Amino acid sequence: MGLRIDPLVGGSPMTETRADFEVVAAGDVDEAVRIFQRDGFVLLADALTPSQLALARQGADRIVQEQTDAIALEKANRGYARYSFGQQVQHPEWAQLIELKPVVDVVTAIWGSEDLTCSGAGGDYSLPGAKIQHLHADMGDCLNDPEGRTVIADLPTPFIVVNFPMVDFGRENGATRFIPCTQRNRQRPPSLEQEPEWMRQSIIRAPAGSALIRDVRTWHGGTANVSAETRVMTSVGYLAPWFRRPGDNEPVMPRELYETLSERARKWCRSLAIDASERT
Ligand SMILES: [Fe+2]
Repeated sequence: MGLRIDPLVGGSPMTETRADFEVVAAGDVDEAVRIFQRDGFVLLADALTPSQLALARQGADRIVQEQTDAIALEKANRGYARYSFGQQVQHPEWAQLIELKPVVDVVTAIWGSEDLTCSGAGGDYSLPGAKIQHLHADMGDCLNDPEGRTVIADLPTPFIVVNFPMVDFGRENGATRFIPCTQRNRQRPPSLEQEPEWMRQSIIRAPAGSALIRDVRTWHGGTANVSAETRVMTSVGYLAPWFRRPGDNEPVMPRELYETLSERARKWCRSLAIDASERT
């Protein structure tokens, strides 16, 4: 287990000394939930078996090739050389991520319920030359409270995304930086120009095969990829039992693939499945 990074206190870190983020062993659900609730994310070791990782890499490599063949670096959808996969849950390499026991044991414990919804699977990647990305949350306020009393930051975790590094993430290859304890923050993250150095250095060094379970409101951003390799991470998403967003889940998963899922996972993915009667 690594040393823990100190949380924000009054908007500044408790110490100038940076340390590695804690890594929780697969199966240590209580510890994973504790860190997730505190920091807004937790890194879980050995979430994928070697064969699951190999399959995930195969799928990721294929889609990266297809997308980079079709879309030039300058036209990438997240800035120069930075791409989002988009929805890929229709592929078995991503569908296998939906019900990984070490991960879903933590996700269901966070919500105290198995009645969640899978929003799909995707991820992102950056090629050599990608620049640092500004800090952001992956979810804006969508409550539209007419009285202005409640914003999304006031709620418990509505949406969890789990990221899976396909290569070892390090300082050279554009790993993501995460700012602990920002998941309930009503403020906007600082711009690149205003971002303090300690936030720039708050980089997750996660090995391939691990899983980063995160509240999507937690501030984060990609870093520059100054290595010679493509930095790929895949993902799967889950909505809280009490949270839905209209239009989130387009039916894309072929019935044949849907039917390979467990009964529990089929419930989570009901809205992602293409109905057999609608297929040509
Ligand atoms: Fe993001």
